[in-house]
Amino acid sequence: MKATEAWGLSMQILPMHRHRHVSRRPVWIIVLVCLVSFFVICGYVYPPENSSACYVFSPRGCKAFQEWLPSYTRRELTDEELASQVLVQEFLRTPPQQTENPKIAFLFLTPGSLPFENLWDVFFSGHEGKFSVYVHASQRKPVHQSKYFIDRDIHSDKVGWGQVSMIDAERRLLGNALRDPDNQHFVLLSDSCIPLHRFEYVYNYLMYTNVSYIDSFLDPGPHGNDRYSPHMLPEIEKEDFRKGAQWFHLKRQHAMIVISDTLYYSKFRNYCRPGFEGRNCYCDEHYLPTFFNIVDPGGMANWSVTHVDWSEHKWHPKSYRAQDVSYELLQKITSIDETVHETSEAKKQVIVKPCVWNGVKRPCYLFARKFYPETLDILIQIFSNYTASV
Ligand SMILES: *[C@@H]1O[C@H](CO)[C@@H](O)[C@H](O)[C@H]1NC(C)=O
Ligand SMILES: *[C@@H]1O[C@H](CO)[C@@H](O)[C@H](O)[C@H]1NC(C)=O
Ligand SMILES: *[C@@H]1O[C@H](CO)[C@@H](O)[C@H](O)[C@H]1NC(C)=O
Repeated sequence: MKATEAWGLSMQILPMHRHRHVSRRPVWIIVLVCLVSFFVICGYVYPPENSSACYVFSPRGCKAFQEWLPSYTRRELTDEELASQVLVQEFLRTPPQQTENPKIAFLFLTPGSLPFENLWDVFFSGHEGKFSVYVHASQRKPVHQSKYFIDRDIHSDKVGWGQVSMIDAERRLLGNALRDPDNQHFVLLSDSCIPLHRFEYVYNYLMYTNVSYIDSFLDPGPHGNDRYSPHMLPEIEKEDFRKGAQWFHLKRQHAMIVISDTLYYSKFRNYCRPGFEGRNCYCDEHYLPTFFNIVDPGGMANWSVTHVDWSEHKWHPKSYRAQDVSYELLQKITSIDETVHETSEAKKQVIVKPCVWNGVKRPCYLFARKFYPETLDILIQIFSNYTASV
């Protein structure tokens, strides 16, 4: 509490000094000094948790206030946290081995057969050796249509909606794909995802990026930070908690970091579950956005390269039927160059940010969901025409 005393002291010295010039010490100065001292002491004893309280202390918000505190009032790292920090820093410092033939790994997370295999077949065709495919089918053994998918099923397990088993499946896909040192980038896709561009475009977009496309934003509302559990303390504070869609792209270093994580993973496994302590927390929406916000915030783009349309504001995003699909629809999606995130408080905030690729503003999306299987034929018809023009 030394700093508090010093502050209180300097506050008192000021009016004393003035006293020499002003014959009577004005009452308002005493009141002001008392008020300021009171707030400063309160700030130490009860560190501000919500943003409105932060503004009382500092117009720049909580972060600024905490940085201003002397370092000894910040907590010590836990043993697991220290180990995690060392590992993460080591992975980030070690660029992946340059291989002759860098590839992109396409990780498909699906209940069973993939309705768009024939479209992906058109997409992959002619680019053999520049990609690899992994399929995690959580319910039924898929029947494959395309040669690029045959024998690409990995050992799989059941996946429960909103459960940690979803994260386990993602880690299983990453683990399998990481065994091939040529795989430098990893994209997670679902059975309802389609490609929006031709292969070379996607390859160059991902191969030459220096960040991972992980969706992550701060939602202070009931579908965001209200799902946070204080059991996640001390390593995960409420202000670190983030939300985002699960459909990631990870560069190899980040994929290594994900499969090595045990600390943050176990916090989410134990305390982020539907119905846990009356909260509906979903690991797939919070684990990676929060994890990377803690370990490497500057290393993620904060948006996903897979487009989804939430503009109908329903529980599920818009799903496209055959009559919805047209050249114009794809043109509309591929020309979007800003991301929109909406928070869930009563007074919704809409956060719009430009999509920036290596310093240049570019369209955001390489893939899109959710498409019904009935759209396959029309998508195949327009895919080649369409991608020839973009
Ligand atoms: C992503 O968001 C984090 C905060 O969570 C921020 O520190 C980082 O700079 C953002 N990344 C980019 C590329 O803007
Ligand atoms: C990525 O590249 C951009 C532009 O060259 C640069 O501004 C940014 O700091 C880089 N980010 C990382 C994480 O290296
Ligand atoms: C695709 O392009 C060809 C040749 O330009 C054209 O004849 C055909 O109608 C186009 N198909 C669609 C679905 O736009």
